[in-house]
Amino acid sequence: MRWYPMLFTTVLRRMDPESAHHWAFRVIQAVPLAGGIVRRLCGPDPSLRVRALGTTFPSPFGLAAGFDKNATAIAGLAELGFGHVEVGTLTRYAQKGNPKPRMFRLVDDRGLVNRMGFNNEGAAAAVPRIERARLSRRRPVIGVNIGKSRVTEVEDAVADYVWSTQRLAPIADYLAVNVSSPNTPGLRGLQELELLEPLLAAVREAAGQTPLLVKIAPDMEDEQIDGIVALARRVGLDGIIATNTTVSRDNLRASEAEIARIGAGGLSGEPLRDRSLDVLRRIRAVEPDPDFCVIAVGGVESAFDVLERLRAGATLVQGYTAFVYAGPLWARSVNRGLRRAGFRGSGAPAGRR
Ligand code: FNR
Repeated sequence: MRWYPMLFTTVLRRMDPESAHHWAFRVIQAVPLAGGIVRRLCGPDPSLRVRALGTTFPSPFGLAAGFDKNATAIAGLAELGFGHVEVGTLTRYAQKGNPKPRMFRLVDDRGLVNRMGFNNEGAAAAVPRIERARLSRRRPVIGVNIGKSRVTEVEDAVADYVWSTQRLAPIADYLAVNVSSPNTPGLRGLQELELLEPLLAAVREAAGQTPLLVKIAPDMEDEQIDGIVALARRVGLDGIIATNTTVSRDNLRASEAEIARIGAGGLSGEPLRDRSLDVLRRIRAVEPDPDFCVIAVGGVESAFDVLERLRAGATLVQGYTAFVYAGPLWARSVNRGLRRAGFRGSGAPAGRR
């Protein structure tokens, strides 16, 4: 697959990253117009099916939150081979996000830095889109990620999340509470246990039977991770998504000047890989119960990376940044690699190989 690296180097890399994202997104939205050709080319083999969160995922590999913020490309992303799509982050109030530029490539590191700031059209606008996507027989599993609106004070965060939960939980296959993006002031402070407990308890109650997970940052001490795992169990969560982007800038190939020029934001992609894997291992060390779902995300690019996470105890795996570097057939190549490696999911049909 050499055409994508060429397109990336000659065209996409010269474009502002957010504009490139915009155009790629348009193409993905148009994928279903090809009448199923892409699906036949990229759809995961039934042997990859995984049972988790009370449903069957077509593949353990899915698309992380932030790519399809407004739930407008679910069908196209499914055809490209993602077993699940986590839409959002959606907030109670529509918001523009931070001023541009707010997305930056670190090409030599296969990383991205973003300070998007939850630009989205709001929870209510996404409802009819998700409802429509759910009608398709070939839909992926749809996760919905919610966050705090920027205009909402931290003291009022619970009501803000509950409002979004009431609208979105009934149509989500799972709901993810995002308290870990570094680009909304005060958001990561919600990971402190005394704030997190009332938040998660209220969202748990509002979400009814919908599986509920919390998405955490990689920039925490082990003791804080342990505390969140214990809390998640106490309030009846179904799992944890680990991890969001990091505020660390350690071990980058990019120059100090380049890093300084980019400024604040969350770093994702390859530089996050090891830390994100460490967090997964820590979670599984304290909570080995396989019924407690752990979705691993951060620096995953290849089928090998996915298998490494699964072996470390992940129930499911997600990625985002490598989509930019690997191109539209990324999920297909991961799924094929899993199959070639002999992976067989817990939801695979009996007797097939
Ligand atoms: C993200 N991510 C993200 N996460 C989230 O929970 N809500 C969001 O709105 C966003 N937005 C977002 C935008 C951009 C441009 C990027 C690169 C990332 C984080 C993402 O879901 C994931 O947790 C991290 O990017 C780590 O995975 P990768 O990218 O290393 O595979």
